[in-house]
Amino acid sequence: MRRSIVCRCEDISEEDVLKAIRSGYTDLEELRKKLRIGMGPCQGRVCIQLVAKILERETGKKVGAMKMPTVRPPLIPVSLGTLASEDDEKQG
Ligand code: FES
Repeated sequence: MRRSIVCRCEDISEEDVLKAIRSGYTDLEELRKKLRIGMGPCQGRVCIQLVAKILERETGKKVGAMKMPTVRPPLIPVSLGTLASEDDEKQG
């Protein structure tokens, strides 16, 4: 059976999201905490909108009316090498 992945970072499928919604998790923050959607390296840039669309389809709640989960810095992926670099210390 083919599996549609909605969150690549946390390996969450559409079926996982549907199961969670149908068991009572009906807002994005609840889904995020239950399934770890949006907690991967991309911080939800890929999956949050997909999950919001699935939630809209299943519950009738409009995406525009949903409270989007808080994104925590860094807003773009940063390598550990960049964070550990001594070059930034010398510049600053
Ligand atoms: S795809 Fe979901 S956190 Fe990156």
